[in-house]
Amino acid sequence: MGTTATARRLLLLLALALALAAHRAAARFVVEKNSLRVTSPAALRGVYECAIGNFGMPQYGGTMHGVVVYPKADAKACRPFDDSGLSFKPKPGSLPVFLLVDRGDCYFTTKGWNAQNAGAAAVLVADDKVEPLITMDSPESSGTEHIVNITIPSALVTKRFGDDLRKALQNGEMVNVLLDWRESLPHPDERVEYEFWTNSNDECGAKCDMQMNFVRSFRGIAQALEKRGYTQFTPHYITWYCPEAFILSKQCKSQCINHGRYCAPDPEQDFSIGYDGKDVVVQNLIQICVFRVANETRRPWMWWDYVHDFAVRCPMKEKKYTRECANGVINSLGLDIEKINKCVGDPDADKENPVLKAEQDAQIGHGSRGDVTILPTLVVNNRQYRGKLEKRSVLKAVCSGFEETTEPDVCLREDIETNECLENNGGCWLDKATNVSACKDTFRGRVCECPIVNGVKFIGDGYSHCEASGLGRCQINNGGCWNETRNGKTVSACSNQEAKGCKCPSGFKGDGVNSCEDVDECKEKLFCQCKDCACENTWGSYECSCGGSNSLYIREHDTCISKQSSSSLGWGFLWVIFFGLALAGAGAYAVYKYRLRSYMDSEIRAIMAQYMPLESQEMPNQHRPVVPVDHADI
Ligand SMILES: *[C@@H]1O[C@H](CO)[C@@H](O)[C@H](O)[C@H]1NC(C)=O
Ligand SMILES: *[C@@H]1O[C@H](CO)[C@@H](O)[C@H](O)[C@H]1NC(C)=O
Ligand SMILES: *[C@@H]1O[C@H](CO)[C@@H](O)[C@H](O)[C@H]1NC(C)=O
Ligand SMILES: *[C@@H]1O[C@H](CO)[C@@H](O)[C@H](O)[C@H]1NC(C)=O
Repeated sequence: MGTTATARRLLLLLALALALAAHRAAARFVVEKNSLRVTSPAALRGVYECAIGNFGMPQYGGTMHGVVVYPKADAKACRPFDDSGLSFKPKPGSLPVFLLVDRGDCYFTTKGWNAQNAGAAAVLVADDKVEPLITMDSPESSGTEHIVNITIPSALVTKRFGDDLRKALQNGEMVNVLLDWRESLPHPDERVEYEFWTNSNDECGAKCDMQMNFVRSFRGIAQALEKRGYTQFTPHYITWYCPEAFILSKQCKSQCINHGRYCAPDPEQDFSIGYDGKDVVVQNLIQICVFRVANETRRPWMWWDYVHDFAVRCPMKEKKYTRECANGVINSLGLDIEKINKCVGDPDADKENPVLKAEQDAQIGHGSRGDVTILPTLVVNNRQYRGKLEKRSVLKAVCSGFEETTEPDVCLREDIETNECLENNGGCWLDKATNVSACKDTFRGRVCECPIVNGVKFIGDGYSHCEASGLGRCQINNGGCWNETRNGKTVSACSNQEAKGCKCPSGFKGDGVNSCEDVDECKEKLFCQCKDCACENTWGSYECSCGGSNSLYIREHDTCISKQSSSSLGWGFLWVIFFGLALAGAGAYAVYKYRLRSYMDSEIRAIMAQYMPLESQEMPNQHRPVVPVDHADI
């Protein structure tokens, strides 16, 4: 027990040392914020700052609409609302509830958990004193295992704003707000730089488990993003230094390396058992060196493999948290062990380790980023991430760090979508017949954009109109055109030859979209008007039979010919040829007549004379339509 008490005292001292170090460099813990816009009532309209809580899931890059509700009982939300019979589940069609609760009496996370269980979509905690905004963090004590299950976002608002909200609600006004995380992270360009401040210690309870689960679930995405150049990731490790007066103490010797320069708390908070703080520092150092060496060979993503494998193969519990075990992991990943050993250096030497020195320097805030004091911490585009350390939530944050429209595919995938399309199809175009929808869920919120389905592009405004276009468009819902099948015959108003639109095929008339109606060729006297012919309309066509048994109907020519000599048809064509020649001749004649006028050669005159009679010769009536009308002009 004595050792534990000493350890506690020393931890306090180390923490002090850190505070001092930070103070030296003008300590700054930056409270990460999002904005809250009140849209009604008019008196409160405006944009207010609020602080993102370090638990739950902030919707980085997105927004959320809701109505504020202040509970009638248990305004501090320290007990489950079941006890007081309150529920904040939204009714169908109503806006989600943002529960306003008072600060005090219990953990922020408890308030968040109770609000979530009662159906609230977000929790707004009103500060109870006039002060600048703070970050609501999660406690480390036991009995708070539910923290990992909090999925609603949380925000702290100032006392003054909280009072105003309460007053408006008490006056019976409806308070509409929009929580907005779109500017919570800078998103200047096509690459996101992010850091993960972590620790190799695997025996610190819920926080260590959360870190490990995060590495396990985020590794694949992190590596894919890194390999494709979308991100630049750097891992970081926090170390403390031993105050000078204690350097030679047993405690500093067990917690620090390089003569008190780099320390970590004892994993078990007990110097007499298990691993010491200095073992953690050494393993942290190895992990930084793995990253450095891998990064030099342009494979920085190997860090994720190493950290993952090390946690699996070398846990403290199994007494494998050793350098030998680490070397085994390094070897099996094919990393350069000599370079890594050189980077680690001699932990017993009384001199600075440049790698750890750089880590200590990086810990101090710079630019828009405050000091890193919460472990683990994620820094995205030089701003600290707040919220649960969980794949979906972190990915949202990373995605919101890309300049709009440059985000990689993974940001537009289902598992981080906002589900805004589920309700009323997000107000976008939807073809009920085929379920083709223009609503696309992204982490930034839904967009209405005509889709591409099976390679067929839809064009339109995405809200009220989309239409299949280009090749293959008739395969999808028949291009939105009319089609019908009768007696095994399918007729369609869609043609793949046309880029868009619908047109009734020949034999039909109509708009081509809703209907095409059969044309009654007989009634409308379009065909089969020959003498003694019998006309019968069919669906999309007609039947025609010639009077008398020795005539045959020739459909192409809409005419009857005698069956007697099969050659008559041939003669018919011959006539056509003659007639064609006659026309050509007439054309030539016209040209010559125009060009040569009186110079016309007498020989040509003679030839023309030969042909001219053909034109005037009386041809059988039924042959007349053979030559299309537009050739008869000349
Ligand atoms: C949290 O969620 C997990 C998995 O969904 C579940 O097994 C666990 O019981 C939950 N914990 C609490 C405190 O509700
Ligand atoms: C990793 O490598 C890149 C380029 O290869 C470099 O810009 C970056 O600074 C390196 N990171 C570290 C921590 O050495
Ligand atoms: C369309 O899709 C939704 C959800 O994916 C489904 O519930 C619905 O039954 C589908 N409707 C049709 C006509 O396929
Ligand atoms: C009309 O076209 C659609 C889509 O190509 C097809 O699924 C449907 O069976 C057709 N309807 C008829 C009556 O042929």
